[in-house]
Amino acid sequence: MYDGEFAAVVGPSGCGKTTLLNILAGLLPYRHGTVQVDGVPVKGPGSDRGVVFQEHAILPWRTVARNIGHGLELQGVPRQERRRRVREFVELVGLAGFEERYPHELSGGMKQRVALARTLCANPVIMLMDEPFAAVDAQTRITLQEELNRIAIATRKTILLVTHNVDEAAFLGDRCFVFTRRPGRLKATVTIHIPRDRRIWKEVVADPAFTARRDEILELVRAEVRVE
Ligand SMILES: Nc1ncnc2c1ncn2[C@@H]1O[C@H](COP(=O)(O)OP(=O)(O)O)[C@@H](O)[C@H]1O
Ligand SMILES: [Mg+2]
Repeated sequence: MYDGEFAAVVGPSGCGKTTLLNILAGLLPYRHGTVQVDGVPVKGPGSDRGVVFQEHAILPWRTVARNIGHGLELQGVPRQERRRRVREFVELVGLAGFEERYPHELSGGMKQRVALARTLCANPVIMLMDEPFAAVDAQTRITLQEELNRIAIATRKTILLVTHNVDEAAFLGDRCFVFTRRPGRLKATVTIHIPRDRRIWKEVVADPAFTARRDEILELVRAEVRVE
């Protein structure tokens, strides 16, 4: 992946996307191949890779602000600096006014924004996201996808997102890596040439350049779904 790229890994359920992400995160060992971040081999979890999981891994006993600042606390970042960064990312993910709320007071979409902000706040080199919007309703999902695009523009982060959702992959990815069924292997790479500032659902659905690529990916994935 190149710097600032948004890569989407898409493939049928059970093909090994989560497994791949966990390997990249350093949470699972691998037998073949190499994983490197800026030329440095991955040997375990590290602060260069920020992970956002499907289930919001946020702490129920901490407020929104203290959840977002949690990684910085662990890194020993001084309080003043922590406050400043937390404020910045609370704004970025649209949670201003909710700083002192607890997770149980938030919707699913808001919880996932907290998880996203917490990971971004720790300033990783690359963000790894595993089906981050799978647990929210369809409308919220679309909103969060547009927000993630906005955040990608604002932070210029390198992001790798895995999803079984073809629309999501095509909407967000600069490149979409399509995987085969299990054991998942790279089947095709589809490049989406749509500028980030034009990735708005209302517009892309009317853009043949988008729908053609999306349908191409859909066919590639559908061919892998076995009727069991
Ligand atoms: N290359 C592989 N060979 C054998 N089993 C695999 C492989 N990749 C994944 N699995 C297994 O398949 C199951 C589903 O994998 P998972 O990564 O959760 O898929 P996905 O996230 O794409 O739905 C897991 O039990 C995992 O251990
Ligand atoms: Mg998975």
